[in-house]
Amino acid sequence: MLIVYFSSATENTKRFVEKLGFPAERIPLRKNDAPLRVEEPYVLVCPTYGGGASISGGNTRPVPSQVIRFLNDAHNRSLLRAVIAGGNSNFGTDFGKAGDVISAKCQVPYVYRYELLGTEEDVRIVQEGLKANAEELGLYMDKECA
Ligand SMILES: Cc1cc2nc3c(=O)[nH]c(=O)nc-3n(C[C@H](O)[C@H](O)[C@H](O)COP(=O)(O)O)c2cc1C
Repeated sequence: MLIVYFSSATENTKRFVEKLGFPAERIPLRKNDAPLRVEEPYVLVCPTYGGGASISGGNTRPVPSQVIRFLNDAHNRSLLRAVIAGGNSNFGTDFGKAGDVISAKCQVPYVYRYELLGTEEDVRIVQEGLKANAEELGLYMDKECA
């Protein structure tokens, strides 16, 4: 089971992913960092950064540009099996919207949304859900995930 995630300097997503305990790779934060290229099917964990634009009526860009760049690589995109999005419920209908956009564009299921760094219950639900559905999602289960 591979988790690929993006996390900004506040590192909420990083802390959530670390609690999951699955092998994980991070999409680089800075443009000059070497791009990440994955070699096995993965679940993407992505925070939302639209700023609640659909409430304010502005132009919404909920998916971080670093994640768009990563998914613009057709090889990386071909290995994406599911998306989990982070956010903040203060953003109302835009809560976790990055997951809706990635799911629609890449045609993968949006399997879970959570707030900030996630609760213990979020962690348990995602751990159990991914293990139970790994085969159906086309994810590899190895010893580290058992
Ligand atoms: C500028 C900014 C815009 C945000 N826009 C949204 C949003 O539209 N919807 C949402 O659910 N969360 C939004 N958030 C909340 C982040 O998704 C949340 O804080 C997340 O945990 C950040 O993860 P990170 O620390 O790993 O980058 C926004 C946060 C910031 C700082």
